[in-house]
Amino acid sequence: MKILAVISSARKEGTGAKIAKAVCDEAVRNGSEVEYVYLYDLDFKSCGNCQMSDSDPGFCTKKDDLVPVMKKLVEADALVWAAPIYMDYICGTSKTFLDRFCIFVEPDFTVNRTPGKKAVVIITSGAPADNYKAVTESVCGTLSGFFKMEIAGKISCGGQMNYGQEIPAEMMAQAKEAGKKLV
Ligand SMILES: Cc1cc2nc3c(=O)[nH]c(=O)nc-3n(C[C@H](O)[C@H](O)[C@H](O)COP(=O)(O)O)c2cc1C
Repeated sequence: MKILAVISSARKEGTGAKIAKAVCDEAVRNGSEVEYVYLYDLDFKSCGNCQMSDSDPGFCTKKDDLVPVMKKLVEADALVWAAPIYMDYICGTSKTFLDRFCIFVEPDFTVNRTPGKKAVVIITSGAPADNYKAVTESVCGTLSGFFKMEIAGKISCGGQMNYGQEIPAEMMAQAKEAGKKLV
């Protein structure tokens, strides 16, 4: 299985990145291949021009750093996505990435190219994970309900305010479990 691991946080070795790596390491052990993308390094904006233009559905009018990433997502079988909570919702970089899924939306609001792909969603926060249950459900609901992706893992890791903090063993166990499903 081809996995695209998307790390949204500015912290390349933060909690989300470490959990994503644990998911992917397990999948790679079982024969999958993975490519990591760090969104913080890229220059891109929210955009919906493809929806508004008369161009072919899925044609992206942008020429920014996210276009090749979206192509990689099209080619991937699975997305492993780490998104931290900033100001009570997924960080802006994460939301902007999600906005760009508009290339998969047809004018009649059916979707193409995402259905059947697997997704592992990792939400990290300083506050307890329970505080962001609704956010996690909302993000996973968009991926599964609208984009018809199969949620192979939903990992909410709270209590992670400081950089380099130890990640609870239970979270790493959940990461391993999710990785096993990416084969
Ligand atoms: C700009 C900013 C805003 C944040 N806002 C919140 C917040 O609203 N609620 C919360 O629980 N944690 C908040 N945090 C803490 C992060 O969600 C937390 O440290 C998380 O583990 C970061 O994930 P990462 O290590 O993958 O970067 C914020 C952190 C930053 C840098």
